[in-house]
Amino acid sequence: MNTLLLTIDHKNRERTIKIAAEIIRNGGIVAFPTETVYGLGANALNQEAVKKIYHAKGRPSDNPLIIHISDKRDLRAITNNIPEKCQKLMDTFWPGPLTLLFQKSPHVPDIVTGGLSTVAVRIPANDVALELIRKARVPVAAPSANLSGKPSPTRAAHVIEDLKGRADAIIIGEDCEVGLESTVIDTLSEPPILLRPGGISKGQIEKAIGPIVSDRGQDGDIPKSPGMKYTHYAPKAPVIVFKGSIFNMVAEIRKIKNQKEKEGLKVGVLATDETIDQYSGCVLSVGSREKLDSVAGELFHVLRSFDKEDIDIILSESFTSEGMGLAVMNRIVKAAGYHIVDAGGELL
Ligand code: TXA
Ligand code: MG
Repeated sequence: MNTLLLTIDHKNRERTIKIAAEIIRNGGIVAFPTETVYGLGANALNQEAVKKIYHAKGRPSDNPLIIHISDKRDLRAITNNIPEKCQKLMDTFWPGPLTLLFQKSPHVPDIVTGGLSTVAVRIPANDVALELIRKARVPVAAPSANLSGKPSPTRAAHVIEDLKGRADAIIIGEDCEVGLESTVIDTLSEPPILLRPGGISKGQIEKAIGPIVSDRGQDGDIPKSPGMKYTHYAPKAPVIVFKGSIFNMVAEIRKIKNQKEKEGLKVGVLATDETIDQYSGCVLSVGSREKLDSVAGELFHVLRSFDKEDIDIILSESFTSEGMGLAVMNRIVKAAGYHIVDAGGELL
């Protein structure tokens, strides 16, 4: 398939977005920037178009998609019921990195929701995305624009790497500001459930609607958010996460790094500005521990960079689970397939 690469600049902006919108309206699939990660969009009300997304990504068909709209009024095509807590969260956080579940109306094809009776929706806070949805004049179903299982794309170059030849068009826009996927909340359950930590923190949500609980997928339960059961965000090389005090973490990573290198493996270390000098070899920093927002923005890019270096194994530091740290740690632990080593002590 020939993929149209559409570079956005201020002169061609209108025309470029119009071309992309037309492709979506006509049943094609287009990758576009949002504030969280790049999405791969199709007309959510066109079953054949949505099928193309699953095919392009190699995504399991039981993993439902998020519908993107540009205005709260667009919800009318998607659901017949807006519960009070959803209304409150929409009013507080939209446009923004928060996805909410609604009871789906019969207009939404089953393929979008993987057969579930609920549908996930958000309004992205990105001008190009909003203009694209407005011009397409349809709700846009869009998962992250990566091949299934790879880290989500936070830069246009990541999308081109994964989807050139697989999508009808790719809009080449700016790097994504947030860099992690949206927070997903189920307010249809009582208490509401945090299905995926993301750009809006648990604390921010609780301030708006009161206590929410985390989705733990208790004892082999099927997770309520089907996407949570797949190994996600994973680079090619296996990842091990080290927790504990910074001092112990660094010592343990250095020790294991030595061992692995003696075995002849090429080791990558995911470090921070504060610790990068403690290691030699292929070490990449995701930024300062003092700036978790920018760590979130760098994480997927750094994970993808290790792939380029042909690393055999990645040893990663861990972060606090406060605020944005919860989403950062969720992605790192999933990239590691829950392989965590406790180096001892406590991270302050
Ligand atoms: O930030 C984002 O959310 C990005 C951008 C493009 O908007 N999109 C994104 O989509 O991350 P995706 O498909 O990679 O992740 C969607 C997540 C999956 O974990 C999926 O299982 C969950 O949302 N989800 C979608 N519909 C759901 C539903 N009805 N019930 C529970 N979980 C749902
Ligand atoms: Mg995804």
